[in-house]
Amino acid sequence: MKQFTSVKDVDAIGQLVQDAIALKNNPYADQQLGKNKTLGLIFLNPSLRTRLSTQKAAINLGMSVMVMNIDKEGWALETQDGVVMNGGTVEHIREAAAVMGQYCDILGLRSFPKLVNRDEDYNEDFFNKFISYCGVPVVSLESATRHPLQSLADLVTITETWKGATKPKVVLAWAPHIKPLPQAVPNSFSEWMCKAQEEGMVDFTIAHPEGYELNEDFTPGANITHNLDEALAGADYIYVKNWSSYQNYGKVLPYPEGWMLTNDKLKVTNNGKVMHCLPVRRDLELSSEVLDGPHSLVIHEAGNRLWAAQAVLKDLLQSLSSDK
Ligand code: CP
Repeated sequence: MKQFTSVKDVDAIGQLVQDAIALKNNPYADQQLGKNKTLGLIFLNPSLRTRLSTQKAAINLGMSVMVMNIDKEGWALETQDGVVMNGGTVEHIREAAAVMGQYCDILGLRSFPKLVNRDEDYNEDFFNKFISYCGVPVVSLESATRHPLQSLADLVTITETWKGATKPKVVLAWAPHIKPLPQAVPNSFSEWMCKAQEEGMVDFTIAHPEGYELNEDFTPGANITHNLDEALAGADYIYVKNWSSYQNYGKVLPYPEGWMLTNDKLKVTNNGKVMHCLPVRRDLELSSEVLDGPHSLVIHEAGNRLWAAQAVLKDLLQSLSSDK
């Protein structure tokens, strides 16, 4: 792999999942691979899981890690070309990204969407400029439209917990929230599950109220319904997540009652396991009784963020070594 920004960067998702599971059983076998290599983690937005799991993954591989909350600790960045920088921005992304590439062998970047201009967010302008100017491999720590480290951890979690004879039924279920949230996590989960479905690993359904349709580029082959109970029938995994409207971009639209998952709703599932990327708002997005009960996989899933990140960094480090 030369970079990790979406499922499209991965040659074989099944193999990457197996690599992550192998690392979980033997975390320190590759300490020499990262010796004298530096990972830079650049955040424009808050993080708990992504920051700590990626940092720990790099440490397990023998790497040094530098973290910068560039929105608070760096100079205000200009991203547009051809502007006279006589306003609030102090440094152009051309120089900033290139300089970071001088100090780091691999860079991770988190940059959320603004949820104002859909084209601007879906063009991934900031991410693409950062990649083209930094000159080193980039790992997405969540972009405007995708969160691939999360999705890999999700697929690892499903793969290692599934004991059934046939492939599991996986449901992405929209959930309520008070704030407009990005589509990055559901886009990415859907993109990975559609790929896994193509490879015979899962059956994939998306359930959401009308008006919350995701961009079709991320849902090829998914079964899509507006009826949550219908989607939950026989489900083995339910991936709960809120997202704001893509069509009516960044808006929270009215929705019918009954979209928060409860133990009662889970009765029609196949003893379904419940997943969420976290952070989660209890009893708004997901009920406490589900989060604290035997159906919940959320802590296990968050733990797998480490092995997903380690598998990706290992692959990128191996590519760097083979380029020499
Ligand atoms: N799931 C996830 O990415 O968590 P953080 O935002 O805390 O990193």
